[in-house]
Amino acid sequence: MQIVVHPYAQSDAWMSELRAVLPDDTLHLWPDVPAMDEVDLLIAWIMRRADVQAMTNLQAILSLGAGTEQWQKDGMPDVPVVRLADPAMADDMAGYALHWAWRFMREFDLASEQQSNGVWGTYPSPAPRDTPIGILGYGTIGERIGRAFAAFGHPVNAWSRSGRGGGGVQAFAGADQLDAFLEVSSVIVNVLPNTPSTTGLLTAERFGRCAEGSVFINIGRGTVTTAAALIDAIDNGPLRAAVLDVTDPEPPLSDSPLWTHPAIHLTPHVAGVTRPETAAAVVAANIERIRNGEPPFPLLERTRGY
Ligand code: GLV
Repeated sequence: MQIVVHPYAQSDAWMSELRAVLPDDTLHLWPDVPAMDEVDLLIAWIMRRADVQAMTNLQAILSLGAGTEQWQKDGMPDVPVVRLADPAMADDMAGYALHWAWRFMREFDLASEQQSNGVWGTYPSPAPRDTPIGILGYGTIGERIGRAFAAFGHPVNAWSRSGRGGGGVQAFAGADQLDAFLEVSSVIVNVLPNTPSTTGLLTAERFGRCAEGSVFINIGRGTVTTAAALIDAIDNGPLRAAVLDVTDPEPPLSDSPLWTHPAIHLTPHVAGVTRPETAAAVVAANIERIRNGEPPFPLLERTRGY
């Protein structure tokens, strides 16, 4: 098959990993494509609409990320879009969430502050069993994060549209149970995708339902809340801190208070890394399915928006 590859970064690594797992296909690194109307598949994170439209025989898009909002924009072709479900990416995200949750739970910032004042003093901190973790969005990534926390003895609450749970996880379903979920979670980890129903879900009022001193970690999409709602929930509400790997807009505008608020920690969308060494094989397995007339997975379901 004729396949166009347009990675976000690390083009050389992508091309060599993909060539190794797709030896019988012809791979073209964008923009070096001899005939746009002969392209069968596109492997990409983002692409200009006009360029995708020029691939008039495109059969499917294999997205180089978990999110798919870029492929749902008006004018993008209505071809199957395969999301990237790389277990290694979910592992990275679980490690990120664990790091930040434990940094607050174990008061490691206090230790750093003591160090800078030349102080050596012990202090108490809660145990994992007293620090329930709430995961907003309980698909494959949410479940991986839940398992990571459960392994250390944290109670895990999971909120999703359908109320997925299992394995000792306390499941909460839909808008009606969102407040109850927030009330019992000391750390809230958001992995929800950007869809019409998740946009603006966490208003200042919703955050007001969180447990006193809770921490919000966003590794899903920035659109789930606003800077104003978040800052209000920290300054006047129950949140102790927020850790944002994603923002809306992304990055925050240069005058956004997110940059300077003392209780907000920003990281530049690095929680879940798409690594060619592991992701190429996941993409290749889906191309094999397409070649054999089997459905690739997970497929973007346009009606639900992810
Ligand atoms: C990153 O945000 C992704 O969607 O993979």
